[in-house]
Amino acid sequence: MLIPKFLTFSTLIALSIAPVQSFAQENGESLFEQKCSMCHLKQRPSAEEMKNMIAPPMMGVMRHVKQAKPDRAEAIAFIADYLEAPAQSKALCMPQSIARFGLMPSQKGNLTPEEAQTVAAYVYDTFGPRFNR
Ligand code: HEC
Repeated sequence: MLIPKFLTFSTLIALSIAPVQSFAQENGESLFEQKCSMCHLKQRPSAEEMKNMIAPPMMGVMRHVKQAKPDRAEAIAFIADYLEAPAQSKALCMPQSIARFGLMPSQKGNLTPEEAQTVAAYVYDTFGPRFNR
């Protein structure tokens, strides 16, 4: 490949990474649709949906996560870790949620670590109260 002299190696790296990053951001929603929405509702549940829920709706989940972890980066790190290794001792959601639905099954193997970060940032930026933004 013919590379013009003014393009340094680091410029080339930056150019090749940039589109991947913006793709990742747009991808948060589609990851959620594919990997989370079968369990977590995106909207406030209707009475009918309330009866059939198999996990807490995302707005409630994120209200509790943000109350406990107001810092965005900490909250995202918490969610990415919880996706890989859920545990009752870590859970920030209501104890009633775990009593009713059981612990979230680990999503390890279902998501790469990068996808876990992307979808964690998406749920943080999309659901629950918008303080600290
Ligand atoms: C098979 C069903 C299922 C899938 C798939 C699922 N979850 Fe969950 N999730 C649950 C259940 C049940 C709970 C509530 C119990 C708990 O907190 O472990 C929960 C809890 C959570 C919590 C709160 C953890 C806490 O502090 O208690 C977060 C955040 C979360 N899910 C995010 C996600 C995201 C993001 C995805 C998609 C990548 C996802 N979940 C996929 C069932 C699921």
